[in-house]
Amino acid sequence: MDIVVLAGGLSTERDVSLTTGNMVTQALREKGHRVILLDVFLGYHDTEEDIRDIFAHSEQASVTVKGIPEIAPDLAQIRSSRKDQSNVFFGPNVIAMCRMADIVFLALHGENGENGKIQAAFDLYGIKYTGTGYLGSAICMNKKIAKQFFRQAGVPCPQGISMKKSERADRFAKTGLTLPCVVKPNCGGSSIGVSIVRSEQEYTQALDEAFSYEDEILIEEYIEGREFSVGVIEKKALPVIEIAPIEGFYDYRNKYKAGSAVETCPAELPEEVTKEMQRYAELVSEQIGLDTYARVDFLLDSENRMYCLEVNTLPGMTPTSLLPQEAAAVGMSFPELCQRLIELSI
Ligand SMILES: Nc1ncnc2c1ncn2[C@@H]1O[C@H](COP(=O)(O)OP(=O)(O)O)[C@@H](O)[C@H]1O
Ligand SMILES: [Mg+2]
Repeated sequence: MDIVVLAGGLSTERDVSLTTGNMVTQALREKGHRVILLDVFLGYHDTEEDIRDIFAHSEQASVTVKGIPEIAPDLAQIRSSRKDQSNVFFGPNVIAMCRMADIVFLALHGENGENGKIQAAFDLYGIKYTGTGYLGSAICMNKKIAKQFFRQAGVPCPQGISMKKSERADRFAKTGLTLPCVVKPNCGGSSIGVSIVRSEQEYTQALDEAFSYEDEILIEEYIEGREFSVGVIEKKALPVIEIAPIEGFYDYRNKYKAGSAVETCPAELPEEVTKEMQRYAELVSEQIGLDTYARVDFLLDSENRMYCLEVNTLPGMTPTSLLPQEAAAVGMSFPELCQRLIELSI
């Protein structure tokens, strides 16, 4: 098949996405496909003639990827580096190349990519893509709305409130919550802008931080405990994985710096807890209508009460990412997993 792996873009998770894209590209090439790794925002060259027969030189046409720096990318700099300086999100030749592919593997994370807008645009362009459609993507991107679906499915999640920038209240008492709490952007990802708050003063700083990314934020009860994730493919849960950061919580650095978190799969949990977490993950996928794949994140407190945190509709897909580790635990190699997601989506 001729496949475009679409990555990069303009979200804070840009670098993570390029790394995912690079790994997926290599895996799909191993499976015998002609694969182009394409940056959705920067695109490919400037003129249309450049792309005739492009899949014949898929390797030269692909972007090169350096790895994930420890800090989030400078998006203004990326924006200004695009030659055409157009305000169209799709870079030069992106739509044309995606239309030439048999399918587009979405290796995007965060914002445009995970929020359903690209999926909706592709539906209208007649472009096939991997993963959840536009509506499921949009629901999961908005944590406030996603939590309503969790509750409807009978799946517990942390108590909390949302706050708009225009209604910002700096007095913690107004939230009706108790400390410690968690402040986070409503539609963010990769823990960017997330703070664990232990005092009034930290609370104000956390509001500044979260509002610097978005106009709507969530303030939640802090669940002290262990952190887990459950991949769901074709509505069936994979083994549970536990993520235990060595220092602090599961922030951007701990997510992407090798060796900063201990990941155990299958997680060491009583069987009934595992089963329940898997059932919750399937219920959530069912309720939101996630038909290909997704990853559902949970917290578990010391009394084995679980809380669904969020659903990632385009989870990280490097061989050491969580979902690929879970697939490996049932004997599915990374290239097999990528191939399976292509087949499912087609
Ligand atoms: N209510 C909470 N209680 C405890 N920890 C939380 C809570 N919400 C988020 N966290 C921590 O912050 C991390 C990121 O939060 P999450 O809601 O998953 O947003 P993101 O989309 O940025 O991954 C989680 O993996 C967890 O470690
Ligand atoms: Mg998360």
